[in-house]
Amino acid sequence: MIRVMQIGYGYWGNNVAKKLVASNLLELVALVETDEQKRARAKSQLPGEIEILSSYEEMLASPKIDAVVICTQTEYSFEIAMAAMEHGKHIFIEKPVAKNVELARRLITKADEKNLILHCDHLMVYNPVIRYIKRMIDSGEIGDIMYIDISRINLGPIRKDINALLDLAVHDIAVIDYFMDGLTPNELSAYGTKFFGKQETITYLTMKCGDVLININSSWVSPVKTRRMVVAGTKKMLVFDDVKMDDKLTIYDSGIDVVQGNVYGEYEFSTRVGDIHMPHINFEDSLQNSLEHFAGCVEAGKTSQSGPEQCLRVMKVLEWAQESLQNNRQ
Ligand SMILES: NC(=O)c1ccc[n+]([C@@H]2O[C@H](COP(=O)([O-])OP(=O)(O)OC[C@H]3O[C@@H](n4cnc5c(N)ncnc54)[C@H](O)[C@@H]3O)[C@@H](O)[C@H]2O)c1
Repeated sequence: MIRVMQIGYGYWGNNVAKKLVASNLLELVALVETDEQKRARAKSQLPGEIEILSSYEEMLASPKIDAVVICTQTEYSFEIAMAAMEHGKHIFIEKPVAKNVELARRLITKADEKNLILHCDHLMVYNPVIRYIKRMIDSGEIGDIMYIDISRINLGPIRKDINALLDLAVHDIAVIDYFMDGLTPNELSAYGTKFFGKQETITYLTMKCGDVLININSSWVSPVKTRRMVVAGTKKMLVFDDVKMDDKLTIYDSGIDVVQGNVYGEYEFSTRVGDIHMPHINFEDSLQNSLEHFAGCVEAGKTSQSGPEQCLRVMKVLEWAQESLQNNRQ
């Protein structure tokens, strides 16, 4: 068992703590929360043997814990991760890994120097439907990817420390990075708008990676919750609707066929509408998978799938997108 201290028991920390309590690989030894009411809630909701603390400094130095799970707002997570690694603790950090590439690099360098596991919770990479799509891409079943179109929109929560791009598009960028064995776009443009507070509440990010066109729509101001991804390949196309309870993935054997025309050298294009298939994919909890992947990496001393290399690529795309947002604002 890997003994962990969790820091932050807000909206998301609540879910993480539940998974930790249920885990056979990780043991929640201590939980830290600065807010008194949330500490009281943690005491009433979590098993009695878990220490509930208001600060993490003392426990960081303790041999009672092997790893730290950081569920604070992004603005605080860097400092905590650096302090924890200084004390030789492995890191599970909520997304985004940091606010910018420079801070991400510093975390990565520290993890490397101290020989520690750094895992960012890009949890969609551990989603069973995403894994299924990845197998389809790798086997060539859907052909060459032409475009990927993603909507991750909902009403709130409005964050104060990061914008919708860093909060939401980070998931989709990590997934596309996973699909493509590394996302390094050659063109990128982002637009955003702020209506409430200082951060962009809605962002549109468009990228080109080779011939693949990618569009990511992220919003905290939508009347409906949408978690929808279209992956269009030259052979098959698919739609992943993560809001649906069942049958989240629909595969369309549809596309455009190119055929020789009547005149030599001229081509005709005909639409092909074939079967529609909804594969049965067993439910797995992405957060639990992400936590267990982290535990496996700590046990085996191996690099996480959403570890330093992916974190850096994802942060580079996000930083470029942030620059584009700034430029397009002027
Ligand atoms: N992986 C996902 O799908 C997912 C989903 C939602 C949120 N998140 C991430 O989780 C993190 C937290 O988001 P949230 O919505 O729970 O935010 P939140 O504001 O609800 O909770 C953060 C909590 O951290 C506490 N905190 C801050 N500094 C602290 C410190 N030094 N010591 C102890 N506690 C401290 C705050 O008091 C607060 O309760 C963010 O990084 C967010 O991006 C991830």
